[in-house]
Amino acid sequence: PRLIYLSRHGESEWNVTGQLGGDPPITRRGEAYAKRLSEFLQREFRGRSPPTVWCSQLRRTWLTVRHIPTDICICWRSLNEINAGICEGMTYEQIKRELPDVWEARKADKLRYRYPGGESYLDVIHRVEPIILEIERQTKPLLIVAHNAIIRSIYAFFKGLKQEQVPYVDIPLHTLICLRTRPYGCDERRYKLLR
Ligand code: F6P
Repeated sequence: PRLIYLSRHGESEWNVTGQLGGDPPITRRGEAYAKRLSEFLQREFRGRSPPTVWCSQLRRTWLTVRHIPTDICICWRSLNEINAGICEGMTYEQIKRELPDVWEARKADKLRYRYPGGESYLDVIHRVEPIILEIERQTKPLLIVAHNAIIRSIYAFFKGLKQEQVPYVDIPLHTLICLRTRPYGCDERRYKLLR
């Protein structure tokens, strides 16, 4: 497609507590973002057919897209957040304190470090490869609502970033990224829809 919209889900209960992963619901602020996102897209696509919507199989993403009027909404398992293995449900502080080896190893090589029982960024980058192919086959505008590591990987592909940069791309909450593909590279606009 010429237009690809990317967003993380609205704020989840675990974003507030700082816990990794899991399948928490969204907060009232997250819900406010879900409404803003829908309003924004309805304004952008007034009189035209709405974008196709893709989300993950975790409820924070489908709770975020549920107000958007669309003919097509698909939940992909390969859009689920990076699996933090034994660190799922922990905060960064807790990992630093209770699993210092994990903390140090990940800091030393965030791209390749695989959480015990979970995934590395390289694993995630490979996991989203089929999704990238699917994106490239789409003809209609597309909105993808997923997670930090997933949006980082997809964004980096379309921006032509190096794999080493993927784990550090800044993808804030409540910000809609719009990529417009060009023959070479793509233009980008970011919309902060909620503070
Ligand atoms: O904190 C939100 C979150 O999506 C976690 O579920 C995930 O483990 C993390 O971000 C990924 O970010 P980083 O790789 O920088 O820890």
